[in-house]
Amino acid sequence: MRLGTPLSSGALRVMLLGAGELGKEVVIALQRLGVEVIAVDRYPNAPGHQVAHRAHVIAMTDGAALRALVEAERPHLIVPEIEAIATEMLGEIEAAGLAEVIPTARATQLTMNREGIRRLAAEELGLPTSPYRFASSLEELQAAIDGGIGYPCIVKPVMSSSGKGQSMLRGPDDVRTAWDYAAAGGRVNQGRVIVEGFIDFEYEITLLTVRACDANGTVRTYFCEPIGHLQVSGDYVESWQPQPMRPAALARAQEIAAAVTGNLGGRGVFGVELFVRGDEVWFSEVSPRPHDTGLVTLCSQRFSEFELHARAILGLPVDVALREPGASAVVYGGLEEAGIAFEGVAEALAVPRSDLRLFGKPESFAKRRMGVAVANGADIAEARERARLAASKVRPVKG
Ligand SMILES: Nc1ncnc2c1ncn2[C@@H]1O[C@H](COP(=O)(O)OP(=O)(O)OP(=O)(O)O)[C@@H](O)[C@H]1O
Ligand SMILES: [Mg+2]
Repeated sequence: MRLGTPLSSGALRVMLLGAGELGKEVVIALQRLGVEVIAVDRYPNAPGHQVAHRAHVIAMTDGAALRALVEAERPHLIVPEIEAIATEMLGEIEAAGLAEVIPTARATQLTMNREGIRRLAAEELGLPTSPYRFASSLEELQAAIDGGIGYPCIVKPVMSSSGKGQSMLRGPDDVRTAWDYAAAGGRVNQGRVIVEGFIDFEYEITLLTVRACDANGTVRTYFCEPIGHLQVSGDYVESWQPQPMRPAALARAQEIAAAVTGNLGGRGVFGVELFVRGDEVWFSEVSPRPHDTGLVTLCSQRFSEFELHARAILGLPVDVALREPGASAVVYGGLEEAGIAFEGVAEALAVPRSDLRLFGKPESFAKRRMGVAVANGADIAEARERARLAASKVRPVKG
């Protein structure tokens, strides 16, 4: 893969499918390497659109529209940033040799549906996961719980993210509500859910795992320091790096991450989500792309997960070294409004060793992630305190 000059015939072209806050950082990393970037999302003026060479708005779940755009733009690489994409079409595009799909079309197909990745991890690779069953009706769900999953358990639509449609069930009275909530919250294929036994973990991590070429061009697996995070209603609110781990648990986590990412193949960053208790580790899920909890790497690593992704997909070597302990804290919209403004930014940035990203999303929702504060500290406790403080100073207001 030869880097050229953007907007010339020798340009290396990369198409991002999904141009949210994570895509925006990948675009910026690619721009710095002189890559020509085409950002695609389903709504105009998405964060990544604002920093790309060209921006397109299409329904990425529409295979024909996706193919037409790829044929018009002729990207060398297609980089999915979200799950809701016509992934069968990505398979056709890859098979036809039209473009290389990152990390692979198969990886995007398996991870967009909880059933695909769970069956691969637990049944094919034999990795430890929560006990689980799938159900396509309220009756099947009840039977799955009665048949061994028990309470407490968690019900999730097979196609959803950021905790949408997800609920915890403490007893038989919760089953119908959970079913209805999941049916409403799923992205597509409404009415199929996974029910998982509740894992009483001590802490959970994202293990950013990078498949990248070494100096000889051979793809190798690299592990970033583990990222700890706090989830509220299935959505991340805080993350920090490095999460302290017992050596045996870290070794097991890396072994699990290597098995999953090795099977999915290709090049790039993967966010492997794991639950940990003592030396015991469970695989939860994996994103074949940078992970939201990995926003902390903007301040904690020598190269952020976005820069690592850019390098890895271009076939360049990576350096996953930690620079210093860091933390991130989410800034929510708080209000339902287009074109909002932010107050308190100067106070936020007056917090020692802090930094801020405001994503530039055209429309705010109460629970929409509109920005993130990151901060460094002598240890993760200090970094977390600073990131939380900086985030709390930012006040979204009417524009
Ligand atoms: N079986 C389980 N036992 C205990 N906690 C769980 C279980 N499954 C999920 N959780 C909790 O809920 C969070 C969200 O679950 P999961 O990652 O499956 O959902 P998601 O919608 O894909 O979220 P995201 O897109 O933010 O990663 C997990 O990070 C964890 O805190
Ligand atoms: Mg998750």
